This record gives sequence, C-alpha cells and structure tokens, in this order.
Amino acid sequence: MCGIFGYAGKKDAGSVIIEGLKRLEYRGYDSWGVALASKDGIEVIKKVGAIGDFEELEKLPFSNIGIGHTRWATHGGVSNVNAHPHFSADKSFVVAQNGIVENYQELKNTLITKNHKFITETDTEVIVRLIEEKLKSTDNLFDAIKKAFVDLKGRNTIIILPTSGKEVYAVRNGSPLVIGIAQGEIFIASDTLSFGNHTNRVIYLNNYEMIAYKTENEQLDIYNVNNGNKISYQESLIEQDNVDIEIQGHDHYMIKEIFEQKDTIRNAVQYSIEELHDLIEAINKSNHVYTVGAGTAGFAAGQIAYYLRKIAKINVTELKSYDIDSYKEIFCDKDLIIAVSQSGETADTIEALEIAKNKGVKIASIVNMQGSTITRISDYQFLSRSGPEICVASTKAFTAQISWGFLLAMSLVGKHDDAVNEIYRISEMLENYFRSKKFFKSEKVFKEIAKNFANKEHFFVLGKGQNYYIALEGALKIKEITYKHFEGFSAGELKHGVIALIEKETPVIAIISDDEYKEDMLSAVAQVKARGAFVVGISDQDNQLFNTFIPSCKSDYIDSLTKIIPFQLISYYLGIQLGNSPDKPRNLAKSVTVK
Ligand code: G6P
Repeated sequence: MCGIFGYAGKKDAGSVIIEGLKRLEYRGYDSWGVALASKDGIEVIKKVGAIGDFEELEKLPFSNIGIGHTRWATHGGVSNVNAHPHFSADKSFVVAQNGIVENYQELKNTLITKNHKFITETDTEVIVRLIEEKLKSTDNLFDAIKKAFVDLKGRNTIIILPTSGKEVYAVRNGSPLVIGIAQGEIFIASDTLSFGNHTNRVIYLNNYEMIAYKTENEQLDIYNVNNGNKISYQESLIEQDNVDIEIQGHDHYMIKEIFEQKDTIRNAVQYSIEELHDLIEAINKSNHVYTVGAGTAGFAAGQIAYYLRKIAKINVTELKSYDIDSYKEIFCDKDLIIAVSQSGETADTIEALEIAKNKGVKIASIVNMQGSTITRISDYQFLSRSGPEICVASTKAFTAQISWGFLLAMSLVGKHDDAVNEIYRISEMLENYFRSKKFFKSEKVFKEIAKNFANKEHFFVLGKGQNYYIALEGALKIKEITYKHFEGFSAGELKHGVIALIEKETPVIAIISDDEYKEDMLSAVAQVKARGAFVVGISDQDNQLFNTFIPSCKSDYIDSLTKIIPFQLISYYLGIQLGNSPDKPRNLAKSVTVK
C-alpha cells in the first residue's frame, strides 16, 4: 500500500525519487506524485496509473530536495486531485501520508467550522488543514506538525516538505518509515529496499518519532513527538545482497520468483542449531505456542503450526492475525507467538503482536523484509532471505516460510541436519525440473489447463493433512491472478456440503501425497468423478481417475512444499491466458499497512 520516499542531497532529487518510487511499486498503488522544492517554490506532479517516463518529468526543475508518494486509495477515489503530495492553502508546504486518519470525519467537521476549505476527498487533507490550523498559534512549522500529529488517531506516517526547501520533516506511527544515510544525503522511505541501491546505512524509527533534517548543515535530529525531547539514534547496516529488483529477462516477476524457489528454500534454512537454540528453548518452556499471519502468510502460519504439531508434537494453534479477538482473553506471559510475514509491515499482524506483547507473550518471527516493524518488535528474529518479492501474489516467500517452519519443527526433535539435507535435495530436484525439458513439457500442460479453465468460473481444490493449507493457498494464488472463484477445502469437507456444487465438467484439483491420506484422497476424487467432475491430479503418480495429471516432486518429509508450485504455475498461465497482469492483480496491495 501507500509508499513514501523523500530525498535530500547533492543529486537530482526528481530522478532519485522516481527511482525510489519505482522500487516501492511492488507494494501496490493506483496513483503517485512527486513534489520538488527549488528557488521558485514547490513544483508538484501527480498522476493516476503506473509511474512512467512522462514528458512532465523532464520539465521538473532541478532540485536537491523533494518527496514522493505512491497512493493506494482508501478515502476518496483514484484521481489526480486525491493523489499525494497535498499542498497547504498558501502553498507553503506539501504533505504525503501512509495510513488512515481514523478520526478524520470528526477533525474535518471541526476544521470546516474554522473556515478551512477542503478540495479532496482524502483523509490526508485533514492533516494538511490541521497543520494550517496549528500554524495560527505558532509560526514554527516543526511545532505545528508535532501538535497536529498527536491529534491524529490511527496508524499514520507523514512526510512534509516546506517551500523553503531547506528542511524536510517526517513522523511515524504504525505505518513504516526508515532513514537511509549516505555522505551528504538522506533518504526517508517506507522500506530499506527503496534506497538499498544507494546506501546500506539505515536508522530505524519507532512510533511517535519525528525526523527533522536541515540541508544547510546536513543536520539530522530525531524527536519524540509527544514530549518534544531529542532522541539519540544509532545506524545499522542492511544486507546488500537483498536489494536487486531486476527482472533478469523474464516476462514477469511472478515467473521469475516461481523459478527462484529452487534457491530461496535453501536460503531460508541457513540457520544453524545454535542460531535456533534460544527459540527452541522458548518453545519448550512455553505454555502455548501460536502461529499468526494474514493472507498467504496466514496459510504459511497454518502450515508451520501443522509441522510443529505433526513432527515436533507441540501444542500449537494457528491464528489469523485479523481475527484474534477471543484469544486476547487467554494470552499470557508463558505463551509464545511465531509471526509470519513477507513484508513485516502488515497492520493486522502488527496489531495482533502488540496486543499479545502487552500481555507478556514472547514474539518470534520469520520475515522477509529486513529492518521491518515485525522484525524489530520480535524477541527472536529470523529472516526468510528470499530477496525482494515484487509480484503482489506471494510465491517464494511462502515456500521459504514453510521451509523455515519445517527446519524448526525438525530441529525441535534433533533432526536439524536431516531437515537441511531434505530442503537441499528438493532444491536440487526443482533446479533440475526448471532447467530440464521436463519443465517445458509441463509448461505445455499448464498452458493446456489454462485454455480449458479459461471459460469456467467455479473451481475446487481438495487436500488433506499436510496438503490442507496447500489447498487453501493454491486456491488463493489462482484467485488473486485470475479473478476466478477457486475454493480450497479439506477432502474431509466434501461430503458435508461441497459435493452439492459438483456437476458435469466442474473442475476439481486434487493434491495427493503418498502418505496416510492417499486412500482418502483417491476416494474423494472417485466421488467427484462419479458426479462428472473434471479432475486434475497433482501427485507423484498418475491415476486413472485423473483427467489431467501434473507430476510433482516427492519428499518423504515435506511433500507439501513441492505441491504448491503447480498452483503457482496454473495461476500464472491462466492469468496470462485471461489477459490479466500477473504481477499487479487488480485491487490488491502487497504490503497491507492499513486495516
Ligand atoms: C497481502 C498480500 C499477500 C500477503 C498478505 C500478508 O494480502 O497480497 O501476498 O500474503 O498481504 O502480507 P505479509 O507481508 O504479512 O506476508
């Protein structure tokens, strides 16, 4: 969702900001804007749609300081006027925001009674008018921002550029904000990836911290916005090998990221038993363990809980981060939560963790984005090290998260090395599969399936045991890219309702591992087949019940890991067949930083 990028330094701020915004594109947006300060005042351009090489960009003045924003509409439609940054009425400053002002209606009504005029439908404009209101009693913009910010409810992060072009301010609460430092340069952005190609020196901000940067003496100060006290800060270094976002000759990021899984599952298990030791001890000591996440990460949390129960025999409950209501009552200081997130910035997950933390629950996390909020609030932090995942639909982050969960479960029962070896073995199988003719043979199968599926609307996915969450995630993946109704179920659910939906030619995808549920799965397939279903079987062995067979790699321990990949490929090829954009599906954002 919304991305913020501010720059001050020696370079051409316009180009640096546009490049930074492009590196934030993956978060999802529908419009964008840039404001640059020069001796003639502030110049703003705003556009609906993708950031392109517009002529207007050429016309922008040379400037050493500016701010930019990618907007994912929440309040007010997608339009140039609603895009950020927003000017103050007297054009003395501009504001861009990431978050939602939860009390914006109340604030707007009060401001209207004080004669402020509103020209957009956004909650952001309330912040602009509120700062103007505060400026009635002070001529100091810094003070006015501080006073306005504490009146806002909700998770909000803002960046402000005054016309003077001599300073830039930003305040963080909830929505992410990090600072990048280089010689004579500062980057103020929603994530480290956006400026990772310029510097690896970062400063992380906490909630209610405010940045004031003065260009004259390159002075950076950070304050507590509530009491105005100056805060001392420290620089950290980010891992530089995780900043490459080149598409490397692929047609789309989605297929690139699907192929990368042969490597990323390996990267995710680069934790020695010593590095896992503290978490293992905390799990063994805890009263109850929960896993938590949303969307794909929520399904990964479910799968990790499954491995912890099945392999390590630990009592683990999977929770959806947006639905922890009844658990709030029972969380206690002997519990442990394992949070799963690609971005580390999902608002629902952060809120769930904050609630749990207040109850004394210990937090562990497996996150892909280094330096993110979830990593920073965790007692035990682990990185999935998949590299930037640009496609909105998550693929490599999911398999990395579940590989790490498998490693953890196996390590709890003294089988750390077996887990690593197995992931390496699967990685090799995937490498051979993607490299060999086999893939090109199955690419034909996926394209064929895409053609067959293109005219259908309702699809069912069946799995059981280790493949239950794979069925849910598989269905989600295809929904996201094809906009078709795919529903994942446990095969056990079939006779309790789902079977009523099966008619002649209804497509059913069945995931069948060579495990204790193989017979159950084949019975379920026979039952849908008897009612005319068109069955696609994902298995390591063909079966006469399948109309189409998709072979998948076999693993004794973690078969489920390889079973998700066919769904990612069906999703990709069907999405293309339907003319959809695989990397940027409609309405979806990758980083869901608002509730
Ligand atoms: C959105 C994204 C999903 C992602 C989910 C959780 O819904 O579109 O791909 O799984 O958010 O995000 P997280 O960053 O916490 O994994």
